[in-house]
Amino acid sequence: MNHQVALSFEDGITRFVTCAPHETVADASYKARINIPLDCRDGACGTCKSFCESGDYDGGDYIEDALTDEEAERGYLLACQAMPRSDMIVQIAGTSEAAKTGAATHQATVTDVVLHSDSTIGFTLELDDRDALSFLPGQYVNVAVPGADCSRSYSFSNGPDDKQVSFLVRYTEGGAMSEYLKTRARAGDRVEFTGPMGGFFLREINRRALLLAGGTGLAPLLAMLEKLRETGLEHPVHLVYGVTADQDLVEVQRLQDYAEALPQFTFETCVAEESSEHPNKGYVTKFVGPEHLADGDVDVYLCGPPPMVEAVRSDLAGRGVTPAHFHYEKFNPAGAA
Ligand code: FES
Repeated sequence: MNHQVALSFEDGITRFVTCAPHETVADASYKARINIPLDCRDGACGTCKSFCESGDYDGGDYIEDALTDEEAERGYLLACQAMPRSDMIVQIAGTSEAAKTGAATHQATVTDVVLHSDSTIGFTLELDDRDALSFLPGQYVNVAVPGADCSRSYSFSNGPDDKQVSFLVRYTEGGAMSEYLKTRARAGDRVEFTGPMGGFFLREINRRALLLAGGTGLAPLLAMLEKLRETGLEHPVHLVYGVTADQDLVEVQRLQDYAEALPQFTFETCVAEESSEHPNKGYVTKFVGPEHLADGDVDVYLCGPPPMVEAVRSDLAGRGVTPAHFHYEKFNPAGAA
């Protein structure tokens, strides 16, 4: 059986290769013309040492000089030896440029533009070649704004197996993408984007997880939830979704649908503005309880503007909690690339 391997490079670019049975990660990469770091190809030099983020594999044959038992225990592998037994995510020690590859460009057509509220717009694209795009839930792409000489970064808000791809945009007056979506976008418009990119993506859920979203930072977490709906969930996952004003709260019904489909998934929403009618007033940290942190036995996924990321960091430090993993994505609310 073939397995898909996501090669995650240091510069945030991700490329996907397909490994045939008994094929090593390195062989599949070179077949796809992706020159990951390699030297002896024999498990002796350690040049191809990479970190496995998720997935199962046969580590192959190598000597201790190339990879110690302790490194193997921690999840390191030798790409020239490792043969996948499942789909994998592998961090490559090098940039995509050094591997003579880069992000792929995709052509698509606008199929839908949804005004969720005055502050938030969603749009959906159908790709010319959907099979050519693979991404990990949580990742983003750079979208060339139609009719403008600039691009903006948006995370997928749909699951990686969906036929079409969707995004959430915070409306910013005068913003290139905001104005395009609000005033000119029509179904049938042609759009180009580059990606996928980013190290903020869903890992294997093997303990409790806490998802924290600020504003349209909800998008990548929706992509993760969509994936979890497909795979099922064995550990509790709690989401706290915070926004500034009542009108910024969108896609709540979708969260409700996930909560109904996944008994282990719960969520809370909150609004920061004093004048809000919402029963939960305040920032996300106010609605994170000790039960969500499990004394640190928790993986935290956070996507929001930089002040939110810093606020969560210092809140956790103030509680004396160090999560098992803390994955975060800071985004500019204006969506500038
Ligand atoms: Fe030398 Fe893999 S290339 S150990």
